[in-house]
Amino acid sequence: MKNIVILISGRGSNMEAVVRALDAEHWPARIAAVISNKPDAAGLAFAASRGIPTAVVANKAFATRAAFDAALQETIDRFAPDLVVLAGFMRILTAPFVEHYADRMLNIHPSLLPLFPGLHTHEAALAAGHAEHGATVHFVTPELDHGPVVAQARIPVHPGDTPDLLAQRLLTEEHKLYPYAIRLFVEDRLIIEQGDVRILEASSI
Ligand code: GAR
Repeated sequence: MKNIVILISGRGSNMEAVVRALDAEHWPARIAAVISNKPDAAGLAFAASRGIPTAVVANKAFATRAAFDAALQETIDRFAPDLVVLAGFMRILTAPFVEHYADRMLNIHPSLLPLFPGLHTHEAALAAGHAEHGATVHFVTPELDHGPVVAQARIPVHPGDTPDLLAQRLLTEEHKLYPYAIRLFVEDRLIIEQGDVRILEASSI
């Protein structure tokens, strides 16, 4: 049984999709905690309603990034995580924090990485005139929105699309992609080899 700690900053719809998939598909895992850096993150209420322990480590209360990350790490580690899941966790993380969770921290990013790291990815995809947009689940490494890619979801860009329309359509795909990728981790099917992820067949385990 693997312990998963999920970090959110707001709505938490990806966290919700993971919780629902874990329950419906009976993964050999439990959500040990949902932790937010924002006291008013909407997703905390959903987690609490499912009986999941919640915690807030407010970044505003800390003078430095390093002090916040240290406090966050201490809170996360109380739940003995096998996996830390960033689900709309809108923080730049320090290298020591990332290294502490090396090969056991995943992020979902709303672009087809390596395209468009950082913020405003939907605007960027439209401005670039790309016919396709998407989302990426990757292992977290110290460089922002880099790191070995586990899986991607793709959507077509339609004429007349706006950043909001794209974000909305992509979110539906994120809600399938993230549970898929996390389940692979839970089932020990992800191997990181020289910076690339290899997915083991279910039957080879
Ligand atoms: C999602 O679209 C996620 O991909 C994005 O924030 C949204 C969170 O929504 N993450 C990032 O931009 C990380 N750089 P949610 O809170 O409803 O899951």
